[in-house]
Amino acid sequence: MSTQTGKAEVVVSPSEFFQIEATERIRSSVELKLSDHSYLPKSDFLRADWVASVAVPAFKTLAERGFLAPRFCTIGTGVGLDALAAVEILQARTVGFTDIHDDVVECARKNIQSNLLAEDVELFGGAGDLLSPLVGKLSQVDVIYENLPNIPMAQSDDLAHGQTSSTFIAERSEEIPGFAEKNLVTLHYLALQQAYPVLRVGGRVLSSIGSRIPISEILALSGAAGYDGRVLTYTWKVQSEPDEVVGGFARWERKGLGPFHFYPVSVLQEAFEGLSPAAAGAQALQMENDLSPHEISAVDAMALVEKGEQVGHTVAILDSVKVAASAL
Ligand SMILES: C[S@@+](CC[C@H](N)C(=O)[O-])C[C@H]1O[C@@H](n2cnc3c(N)ncnc32)[C@H](O)[C@@H]1O
Repeated sequence: MSTQTGKAEVVVSPSEFFQIEATERIRSSVELKLSDHSYLPKSDFLRADWVASVAVPAFKTLAERGFLAPRFCTIGTGVGLDALAAVEILQARTVGFTDIHDDVVECARKNIQSNLLAEDVELFGGAGDLLSPLVGKLSQVDVIYENLPNIPMAQSDDLAHGQTSSTFIAERSEEIPGFAEKNLVTLHYLALQQAYPVLRVGGRVLSSIGSRIPISEILALSGAAGYDGRVLTYTWKVQSEPDEVVGGFARWERKGLGPFHFYPVSVLQEAFEGLSPAAAGAQALQMENDLSPHEISAVDAMALVEKGEQVGHTVAILDSVKVAASAL
């Protein structure tokens, strides 16, 4: 089968991708089939891959703090690798997963099933918007993970084409706070809202936010959706799909949204050198302040991309904990 990314399958080594010595609950070589709309893992460039550089360090940070997730759900799973990481690292046994495309969800289901060693895992998958396919099917969830797109689709884009990794349908009927719209984090806000009734008290949403916006604005999302929020991990990525993503941010920046921040890769490398994502998370505000002289706007970053240069961005995992109503 040929897909829009030109690949039909990728093979991932969890020891390399998850930086663990040996797997217990999933296969030691993970074969992932891609469907036509699957988001492609960057198996040959871990610093550009979301699961390897963002999801896994966040899951490990929770596990190291003794927080496991027997009941786990991922919104917008892509190939299902984030769900497999949760099975291995967070000991997930009930695993929910959604994605906007039918073919992606069916492919993810097969990928998760075929790479499991553990026999105690029950899967709940559904195609559709955010958590809507799983309404009534999951409750008392410990961790909901999401790494949803930021950029509203241009009128000319077609959802049936492209990976929709970074874009989503702009027209929404829900009420969105102005700051979330201005910062292009609408889907992250809506995911937080939809997750609330599905979580147990003490459960959490991990929102993976390519923080091209101030951390204070990211933290404000938790509060606006009724959670107690903090930065769990802070890290950086080489911008993947740079033409599409930086171009999308630049288009909205020109219309008055943002501003959005990118950085030279060498600056990010140096700033994060020797720091674990959890250690960086604990000093994220100070790091952001130290990085500020090196910020590049989306419009300027696009000019660099057009010259063939790489740009990077920071990523925060926003950890939004559902607290008991009496604690508020
Ligand atoms: C950047 S990819 C992330 C894939 C994977 N979770 C990861 O972390 O590598 C974003 C995913 O969200 C999906 N998506 C986009 N809009 C969505 C929506 N409204 N509801 C559910 N999934 C959506 C896309 O199809 C894509 O698979």
